[in-house]
Amino acid sequence: MTIDSEDDIQGLQKIGRICANTMQHMAAHLEPGITTRELDDLGRVYLERHGARSAPELTYDYPGATCISVNHCVAHGIPDDTVIQSGDMINIDVSAELDGYFGDTGASFLAPPNSHEQHSVCKAAKKARNKAIQSLRPGMRLNEIGKIIEKTARKHNMRVVRNLSSHGVGRALHEDPGQILPYFEKSETRKLDNGAVITIEPFLSTGADMVFDGDDGWSLYTDEGVYTAQYEHTVIVTRNGPIITTHADYQKAI
Ligand code: CO
Ligand code: CO
Repeated sequence: MTIDSEDDIQGLQKIGRICANTMQHMAAHLEPGITTRELDDLGRVYLERHGARSAPELTYDYPGATCISVNHCVAHGIPDDTVIQSGDMINIDVSAELDGYFGDTGASFLAPPNSHEQHSVCKAAKKARNKAIQSLRPGMRLNEIGKIIEKTARKHNMRVVRNLSSHGVGRALHEDPGQILPYFEKSETRKLDNGAVITIEPFLSTGADMVFDGDDGWSLYTDEGVYTAQYEHTVIVTRNGPIITTHADYQKAI
């Protein structure tokens, strides 16, 4: 969507904050021994308590309230009996709807102790997201976003997962302008509108360029032995700079 009013901004910020707080609430309970289903239940209860509905469930009939992806399952992991272990890398992605507005946020978390590689890929992915967000302005070509992500990945000696994209969001989980590629594509000459609402969510990896489908129809995997991290915010693009809607104020909210 592109925003029309102050009401739009407030609606997006409200659901954005709920998504971010839900993710922090789940992360606060992330420790060895907990299952991804138990984590998802915590997320579901938190969303419901704030009047929000899980976006993947609402939109795609996804079998869970949130996506929880462990180790080489890097996205759209279905909550199940998987038990979190020390040394795991866990991605939690929360998207939800309230009053017709959608927010979408995600982050990778580590269950200590972790390797240098795991820490490095997290740091690089967060930096790539933040650099791309800082660059957002109306009129910018969509392919500049991918250029910045690639440049940041290269600087940190990481790969970009090429078949996972950022996207338009706001009145639906996935909407105009569709996919925003994580690499520079010359033919992508479309420009960002003033007031556009998009996610920025690069997946950076120590070795994977692509993810592949799992058997359950949802989970996306890399080969084993590489580490992949993602950080995602929902952002409103304005002339006065980007507004991130998915900031948490979890400590205040509990
Ligand atoms: Co997401
Ligand atoms: Co997203």
